[in-house]
Amino acid sequence: MPGDARGESAAEKTKAVETPEGTFTIRLTSDNLGSIYPGMIRYTVEVLHGTETVYTYAINSYESAPRGSLFDTRKAAEIVFARLAHDVVSRPGAYTRPRVFTRPLPGTGTVDVVILQGSPRRFGNSAKIASWCDDEATQAGLSSRVFFLQEMDIRPCVGCYVCYDYGYCPVEDDMPLVIRALEAALVLVVCTPVYTGTVPAPLKAVMDRCQWLHAREKVLGSEVNARGFLVAVAGRRGTEPFVCVTRVVDAFMRNLGIRPALPVLIGDLDRARDVETIEGAEDNVRAASRAVLAPRDEG
Ligand SMILES: Cc1cc2nc3c(=O)[nH]c(=O)nc-3n(C[C@H](O)[C@H](O)[C@H](O)COP(=O)(O)O)c2cc1C
Repeated sequence: MPGDARGESAAEKTKAVETPEGTFTIRLTSDNLGSIYPGMIRYTVEVLHGTETVYTYAINSYESAPRGSLFDTRKAAEIVFARLAHDVVSRPGAYTRPRVFTRPLPGTGTVDVVILQGSPRRFGNSAKIASWCDDEATQAGLSSRVFFLQEMDIRPCVGCYVCYDYGYCPVEDDMPLVIRALEAALVLVVCTPVYTGTVPAPLKAVMDRCQWLHAREKVLGSEVNARGFLVAVAGRRGTEPFVCVTRVVDAFMRNLGIRPALPVLIGDLDRARDVETIEGAEDNVRAASRAVLAPRDEG
C-alpha cells in the first residue's frame, strides 16, 4: 500500500459514512515524495470498512503534464474522494470486500545470476558472451538465466509515473519476469552490442521500465542487492564506440543501487565478425565474470 515504508502520510480530509453495511470512512492523505523527485506529492484516497482498507486510489503530481494539463493532482484526488463518498452511500455492498490495486510479481523465476542479452541476434556475439557468463555462473555453483530481450514482449516505458503510486507498472507484458528476477538476483550481467552509440531498443526499453524497480525500492522499501557487470561489443575499434553505452548502463545500474564492476569492452567486430576469433576475449570475459560471481563479504 502507498506510503507504508516511507514515513508518515499527512491527513488531508476524512468523511465518515453510515450505511446498512456498517460505518465506512473515506480518507484523503498526502505523502511528500520530494526525496524521490523534486516536488513529487502523492495523494491517496482510501475507503475503510470499519478499520479494514477496502479500496485505494492514488495519484501523484508527476502524472500530469507540466503545463497545460487538464487536471491538477490534488483536484483529481478530491474528485475521487467525493465520488467514492457518493458511491459508498449508493451501494455500500460493493465496498464490503477489499479490492486491491496491485499486480503481484510472479512467485517463481528467481535465480542468482540474471543475464540480460541485448542483441536481437540469437547466435551473435552478445549471445555467445552471455553463454560464457552463464557457464561461469554454473561452474561457480550459482543458478542463472539468460533473458533474450528481443524475444520477450516488453514495451517501452510510457512515463505515466503510476509505479510511484502503488509500486507496480500498469503496462501489461513480460516485464514482471524481469523485475522479479532482478529483485532477487545476486549478480546482474548485461551483454550487449553497441547500436548507434548506445544499446539496442529492447534493452533500452527494459532499462527504462526498470523505473518500476526504482519505484518499488522507494515506495515499498524493497531492495535490489545485485552486483552489476557489463560486457559490450562494437563493430569499430578503440574506446570511442563505448563512451555512451558504458554511461547508459552505469546510470541504469546506479539508479537501482546496483554496484557496477569494471566493464569488458570488445571492439573491432566489423573486421573480426566473430568474438570467438578475437584473441583473449573469451578468457577476459570469463575471468571478469568469475571475479563478479565470487562470493564476497559486503560488510
Ligand atoms: C543497427 C546497428 C547499429 C550499430 N551501431 C554501431 C555503432 O554505433 N558503433 C559500433 O562500433 N558498432 C555498431 N554496430 C555494430 C555492432 O555493434 C557489432 O556488429 C556487434 O558485434 C553486434 O553484436 P551481436 O553479434 O551481439 O549482435 C551496429 C550494428 C547495428 C546492426
